[in-house]
Amino acid sequence: MSRSEVAIVTGAGSGIGRATAELFASRGYQVVVNDLSSESLHWVNTAPNAKSFLALAGDVSSADHNAALVDAAVSHFGGLSVSVLNAGMVGTLPWDDDGAVEKFERIMAVNVTGVMLGIRYAAAVMKKAGSGAILATASTSGLRGDPGNYAYNASKAAVFNLVRAAAVDLGVYGIRVNGVAPGPVETGITERLKNLPGAMDEMAKRIPLRRWGQPNELAEAFYFLASPAASFITGTTLMVDGGHSAHAAHFNLRDKE
Ligand SMILES: NC(=O)c1ccc[n+]([C@@H]2O[C@H](COP(=O)([O-])OP(=O)(O)OC[C@H]3O[C@@H](n4cnc5c(N)ncnc54)[C@H](O)[C@@H]3O)[C@@H](O)[C@H]2O)c1
Repeated sequence: MSRSEVAIVTGAGSGIGRATAELFASRGYQVVVNDLSSESLHWVNTAPNAKSFLALAGDVSSADHNAALVDAAVSHFGGLSVSVLNAGMVGTLPWDDDGAVEKFERIMAVNVTGVMLGIRYAAAVMKKAGSGAILATASTSGLRGDPGNYAYNASKAAVFNLVRAAAVDLGVYGIRVNGVAPGPVETGITERLKNLPGAMDEMAKRIPLRRWGQPNELAEAFYFLASPAASFITGTTLMVDGGHSAHAAHFNLRDKE
């Protein structure tokens, strides 16, 4: 890989984003990492390849912040080859909640507008270079509904089609756009389930591989989709979910015979 490979990874303060930033850096990328707070990005200072990172805190739902991330990649590292638009938020929401509209709009702003803005600003630079890979984090929750989770479900469903539509528009410029859809993965977002007795095991029983995913398993999928090995792949979202979405769930999974 040439020295000029540069990536942006959003939501890199923990979980899938951090694992992805670490993996890309360990394989020679220079990485601009984003999260809401600078404290959550302090890990880069003690990373083995600390000089490969530039941390820039901010909200991905802001156009100015997306512009700043891309500017930082160009001015600090000399370009932008990959953007991993991974920051996301969950939030269960009763339909009759007083603040339902505001909360719905916030989840859409982060999970959908954040991805749209990330594509917009990354594409502007990649068009000039005539190449680039833009990746977004969808979810198996974007395929069907979860109880009380309609805002998240709707937002992640939108990511699947934003990826397709952006791929349609940007292919002519040599820019590939793909998604990764995690199933249940042990990260900050799912931490609260550890306090609910039996919840982790209950979920694992619904997954054909019978276990939760780990952040590095998602990072490897992003790395593949960004790499020349995926040079003819665009407009798709790769399910990285232990088979969760392959199971129609009409019947419980069977034990070994
Ligand atoms: N963990 C899972 O089971 C799972 C499953 C499917 C999809 N996902 C998706 O994976 C992505 C990464 O989540 P994770 O599981 O690693 O959780 P995580 O909580 O460990 O990481 C998400 C990060 O995004 C950051 N973030 C949230 N809103 C932001 C904003 N407006 N601007 C910038 N950063 C923001 C958070 O501060 C956090 O550090 C998310 O898009 C999430 O929806 C996760």
